[in-house]
Amino acid sequence: MCGIIGYTGPRQAAPILLDALKKLEYRGYDSAGMAVISLDAIQVRKMRGRLQLLANMTRDGRDLPGTVGIGHTRWATHGEPSYYNSHPHLSSSGRFAVVHNGIIENYRPLKDMLIAKGYTFLSATDTEVISNLMEYCDQGDLARTLMAAVKHLQGSYALGVLSADEPDRIAAVRRDSPLIVGRGEGENFIVSDIPAILSLTRDVYLMKDGEVALLDPEKITFFDPYGEQFDKESFHVDWDVSAAEKGGYEHFMMKEMMEQPTALRETIRPRIKDGRFVLDGLQLDPDWVKSLSMVHIVACGSAYHAGRLGKNLLEGRLGIPVDVDIASEFRYRQPILKPEHLVVIISQSGETADSIAALREAKGKGVKTLAIVNVVGSTIAREADYTLYTWAGPEIAVATTKGYTTQVAALALLTCCLAQERGQMSGEELQQMEALLMKLPDAAEEVLSDHKEVQRLASLFFNHKDIFFIGRGIDYSLSLEGSLKLKEISYIHSEAQPAGELKHGTISLIQPGTLVIALATGKRLRDKTISNIQEVRARGAVVLALCLEHDEEIESVADHVLRVPFLCEELEPILAILPLQLFAYYVAALNGNDVDKPRNLAKSVTVE
Ligand code: AGP
Repeated sequence: MCGIIGYTGPRQAAPILLDALKKLEYRGYDSAGMAVISLDAIQVRKMRGRLQLLANMTRDGRDLPGTVGIGHTRWATHGEPSYYNSHPHLSSSGRFAVVHNGIIENYRPLKDMLIAKGYTFLSATDTEVISNLMEYCDQGDLARTLMAAVKHLQGSYALGVLSADEPDRIAAVRRDSPLIVGRGEGENFIVSDIPAILSLTRDVYLMKDGEVALLDPEKITFFDPYGEQFDKESFHVDWDVSAAEKGGYEHFMMKEMMEQPTALRETIRPRIKDGRFVLDGLQLDPDWVKSLSMVHIVACGSAYHAGRLGKNLLEGRLGIPVDVDIASEFRYRQPILKPEHLVVIISQSGETADSIAALREAKGKGVKTLAIVNVVGSTIAREADYTLYTWAGPEIAVATTKGYTTQVAALALLTCCLAQERGQMSGEELQQMEALLMKLPDAAEEVLSDHKEVQRLASLFFNHKDIFFIGRGIDYSLSLEGSLKLKEISYIHSEAQPAGELKHGTISLIQPGTLVIALATGKRLRDKTISNIQEVRARGAVVLALCLEHDEEIESVADHVLRVPFLCEELEPILAILPLQLFAYYVAALNGNDVDKPRNLAKSVTVE
């Protein structure tokens, strides 16, 4: 997510903006910038790279005089990290400056309209549309102009805007992206989240969608979505800074788990328009798509587990074989690759050494490559022929959660897009899938809203020494991810087994009291899994079953039951993994482990 800060008051703005941006660095970014009003003109200093470079360029802000300004750290979505794509963005005349966090879904037609009206653009971003829209909608009043401009916008935004014509003011508005207003003594602030201004004020206003704030050094005026002025209630923040950076959660992992509904919404919504699946201008040649005869999915760790679910999705809809490989194996096994194949590399960081090597192996054999990546401008994103971003925002915790679930969602989008191009999904089927994908974030929110049972179960089993996950089909792929989540942060030995495979050896490890987590969310194979549950219970295992919400029979064969709502076979794994993420989190926390930075692990494995 990008970071926004704004200041209006008696002091020099740039040093204050830099200091606040430093406190927003943890959110992850690839470029930074500031705009300050000086002598009734807006001066902008911005660049790709670390914030320190911006501080050096402006001598810690001293070379950017002025008492009103906005600042930004950019987490790239539209347009690679670069000078021109950095924020703030100026309007064509230079009279308006904008910083933005979020995604404008209809920026393309707006940009075309503005270009047709003579406005000029320097960047590839969606945000620059807003600065020219401000000019296009100019009402001679900053707040009213902002209200008029956002009426044209579809998507998510938190905006801070300046006007050279109103040199002591900042206007701000949000929709789906967080934005806070801070009230000081003779100075006022806007900010993306609270930690960045805790050293300046603890009196804040949490903006709601559609509200507009107009700030000058002495006054903050709020307007409701209908443009009517109203008195907004502030509150006093008593958090410490560390808690605030995690949004009040104890760990980044919990914050990121709870961000999954938003991450899914951001990843899915811009890719489906009027019943058609559009993948960010991924110009796949229609004839080549029709000739596609095989897909190879290559990844590591959780990304590999997501890839296994992708196999289920792609084979089910396209009727072609899909191989899923661990990258460190793929690169050395002399894979058989042909021009009519597609290699899909999945990677949250986009910097995993084995996955980069696999990508280069595929490209070296002249095969088309598509990357599913979270970090914009990362190596894999830059080197693949096509890139489909998961817009999950920065993921700080080593154990991936929103990175994984948005990867599976991206694979569902890719499946529908390819099936649509190959005429293998009817209009009705595409609309059905669109409706289900649009429901998915809310369904995820429902699952994540109640932790009580998971916490209770974690308290029963957090000191176990061996925990087995079993499942069939998609439930086996899920059990791989559930087992990895648990072991990598709890340090408890855990392994996943195809439920039908137990009797071929592993069942010898089952003894009285052994915990077996049985996944039975796939309707087609559930009855078989129930038989496997009975096999392990006959040997004294304690069984925790994960099943669909109306599955009553499972109560009679399992000792404990966790339930998830049923959405559809293809997307169910995105919901079913959520309780397993929470279980792993609470078991690790009860063991007193460093949940966000587990021993021996790195967030991105950039070495072989
Ligand atoms: C998952 O929780 C782990 N952090 C790890 O398995 C990770 O998924 C794997 O290293 C791949 O990383 P990538 O997605 O950044 O390529």
